[in-house]
Formats: sequence, structure tokens, C-alpha cells
Amino acid sequence: MDINEALRVADELVLAKTGKHLDNLQQKILRGSWQGKKYSQIAKEFKCGDRHVGNVASKLWQMISEILEENVTKSSFRSAIERYQVYHSTFGDFNFVQSHLNVCTEPLHHSKAKQNSPPPPPATEENPQDKPRLNLRDAPAIAKFYRRTCELTTLENWIIQKQCRLVAILGISGTGKSAIARHLITQIQTQFDCIFWHSFRTSPPLETTLKKLTEFICDRPVTDLPDRIEAQLAILLEYLRNSRCLIICDDGQQLFQGEQLSGTYKTGYENYGTFFKLLGEMDHNSCLIFTSSEPALEILTFPPDYQGVQVLYLTGVSEAAAREILQQNDLLDQDKWGELINLFQANPLYLKLTARTINNLFAGRVAAYLSYQSEFSILGDELTLILQQQYQRLSPTEKQVLNASIAQAAPANLPQLLKTYQGSPTDVFSAIQSLVRRGLIAQKIHNQETVFQVIPAFQQYVKNLQH
Ligand SMILES: Nc1ncnc2c1ncn2[C@@H]1O[C@H](COP(=O)(O)OP(=O)(O)O)[C@@H](O)[C@H]1O
Ligand SMILES: [Mg+2]
Repeated sequence: MDINEALRVADELVLAKTGKHLDNLQQKILRGSWQGKKYSQIAKEFKCGDRHVGNVASKLWQMISEILEENVTKSSFRSAIERYQVYHSTFGDFNFVQSHLNVCTEPLHHSKAKQNSPPPPPATEENPQDKPRLNLRDAPAIAKFYRRTCELTTLENWIIQKQCRLVAILGISGTGKSAIARHLITQIQTQFDCIFWHSFRTSPPLETTLKKLTEFICDRPVTDLPDRIEAQLAILLEYLRNSRCLIICDDGQQLFQGEQLSGTYKTGYENYGTFFKLLGEMDHNSCLIFTSSEPALEILTFPPDYQGVQVLYLTGVSEAAAREILQQNDLLDQDKWGELINLFQANPLYLKLTARTINNLFAGRVAAYLSYQSEFSILGDELTLILQQQYQRLSPTEKQVLNASIAQAAPANLPQLLKTYQGSPTDVFSAIQSLVRRGLIAQKIHNQETVFQVIPAFQQYVKNLQH
């Protein structure tokens, strides 16, 4: 980690806690401390008094200590922030610091809700009113993030230029949906009045979600919401019209029932369908980003050319980014990296977990790891657990179609899959579509017909189950 990276991480943490970026003197103190400079030297370079630097530094260490939940001083800043970064690049998915951050309750300075007006200029130190009110308590920590330039540009274009009201980011677990949404915030935050990260991890009923969103946007507790959910929705929509809010609803798959076709709501959660439909259809000035490994079917019913609703299917990272992940994890045998990346379809989480397995069992030798591939797969306990969770969510017909598809030597076409299944063809069609929506089966055109193939990592998992 270098000083610029350390400053970036520290700035993100401070921004999430206070809603404000580090100012110039705070940055200078962190940079100087990193370089082992004395406060008097920092004061001299900043052309201010020693005591002023000392006071600002003392408050800064106190704030960083609270965020990192350990005593951070001038001499321990470097090791503390490095430890934080290592922790988060290993366990990027877990909320460590964010769960202890406060909601920033700065009032809105001005509304950015005017539709069709050109986007305001980017925020600078001089116009702090461009900083939105944030609540990112439930967001994942900012971790090392490679490229995704193309996807970030697409998302920015949809949300800022095209003013989309509803954007879904779909893809299998570990592909980086939460990470890209988190990075997008940094890129576009000045265009919004307020930004709220809402996690579906605990499967909140729609009433809870509506209350949380309404309270955040109007910036006060709301005790007088009507009983009828339609009326609560109407109130939220009014707020979404009056200001420009960015809402990220993460981990959407938690709204859906396991052992059913993908996108089947849990009992009592069906009214989320109306929520997504209304947010996509109604005229308002805000944007909801929905990330999920299972789509809400209501979002997919908007035609691709519908103004205001877009879907991004996120697949693995680029080969160059995947190589950087392997490099970061100290793997050897670079000539075999391409094979490893293909095996895991450049899924960053799968690659990180497999890198750990290769380091533990094969001292980082990718060739040695791959040499076992023809006989059986070593997925490692952590990755196996993640794949198992996905497998357990499948409906019985999906499992049968999956097994039938894996039994074929080459990618199978529809007649081949139908032949191996005893039940109704309609069930097979639905199961295939559901598996495709989950990103577990890939379709491609071969000899002018559509063929289906289970993604390699999942193939390995199912084969391991059969042995
Ligand atoms: N572009 C990227 N570069 C490096 N690491 C990434 C990238 N995208 C995601 N990751 C890492 O991969 C892991 C899974 O990402 P996450 O966003 O949690 O996936 P998802 O939300 O799709 O399940 C996390 O550790 C995250 O930091
Ligand atoms: Mg996620």
C-alpha cells in the first residue's frame, strides 16, 4: 500500500462517517505522519502554527480511532490503515467499519431534482454544497478494485445522462455487483442530494424498507405513515420527485424463496413487485439501483428500449484485472493463469478464494493445482460453501436440468435436454430460463441453434457432489 492509496482509503472512511472529505491540512497531516515527519515540519510546510497542526491532528486521530475501533496515533496510523486494507481485501464482503458509522444528518443545501437540467459541475473544495447527504452504513467497505471502466461508464451514462429511474445489476455471487455499485457512488455522488445504501441481507418486509427510505430522505423519524402500503408508496414517490436521491438496494436475492424458480418472492414479499414496477414506471427524479443474483421478474418485463429502466448483467472481470488479482495473491506459474481464470470465469471472489487454496495446498503453484483437474476438482471449503448455497436455492426441476446438461459431453441443445427429462417440456423450458437468469447456465449460438452449458465452476461443484 502506498501513501496515495492510504489517503484514498482514509478519505473514504472519513467521508462515510462525517459526510465530508479530508481537508487539505488533514491530508497533509496523514501524509506527513506516513512519512515520519514531525508536526513542526508539517506546520512549516503548511505555513501555519505548530499548535494548530497539533489540535487538528489530535481530533483527526480521535476520529480515525473511532472508525477503526482501535487507538490510532501519528506513529500507528500507517500500520492501522494497512491492517484495515489487508482485512478488507481478504474479507471485502463483510461489514466491519460501516456497521459502526453514524448517519450524516447534514441538511440538504439545495435540491438537484430538476429534471432535464444539465448535470451540475463536479464538487470541489470551494463548493461543498455539492456533497450529498450519505448513509452508507450497510455498504461494503471500499476494497481494491480493478478496472470495470466500461461497466462504470455504462452505469454512469444510464443514471446521469439518461436519468434512469431503476437500474438492476445482476450476476452470480462474487462477480462484483456490490463492489461496482460502491465504486459508482464515488464517481457520481455529486449529482445527488442524498445517497442511501439499503441492504436486503436481513430480508426486510416492504413496510420496513419504505419507512427506512422515507425517513432517510426527509431526514427525520416518521411516525405518522398511513397503514396502507399503497399510500406509503405514494408518499415515498413524492419525496423521490422532490429531491434527487440515489438508493442502492443490495443483496436483492434475499427477497426470493429458495427451492423455487428464480425470482419467486418469499411469502409476504410479493408486494416488492409493485414497488419495483412503480419506481420504474412513475415519473420521479431519483434512481434505485437493485443488485441481485436473482432478478425481480417485474424489472425484466420492461422492454430493453424502455426509457428509464436498464439491466446490467455483470460477468467476471477482464483478464487483465483477473491477472492483477492473482498477482496480488502471490500465485506462481503465470503461463497457467489463463486456464485458471477461464475455469472461474474471472469471478473475482472465486479467484481470491481459489488463490488462497492454491497457496495453502500447493505453495502457490497454479500448475500443480490444475494438474488434478482432469481427475477431480479441488474447490476449497470456502468456495464449495458459496456454490452449495447457490445449489440449494435451485428448484427440483432446475437440479435435474443441471445434471442432464452436465452429463452431456458438449454444450447441449434443447432436444438433447428434453430427452433426458421425464416430466413436461414446459417445466424444462422454465427451468432452463430460470438457470440462465441466475447466470448458472450460459447460452450461445452454435451451428445456428442455441446450446446451453453450465458454467465451469458450478460444473465442478455438481461433479464433486456426484462422487
Ligand atoms: N473489479 C474488482 N477488482 C478486484 N476485486 C473485486 C472487483 N470486483 C469485486 N471484487 C472483489 O470480489 C469480491 C466479491 O465482490 P462483491 O461485490 O461482494 O460481489 P457480489 O456483490 O456480486 O456478490 C469482493 O472481495 C470484492 O472486493
Ligand atoms: Mg453483493
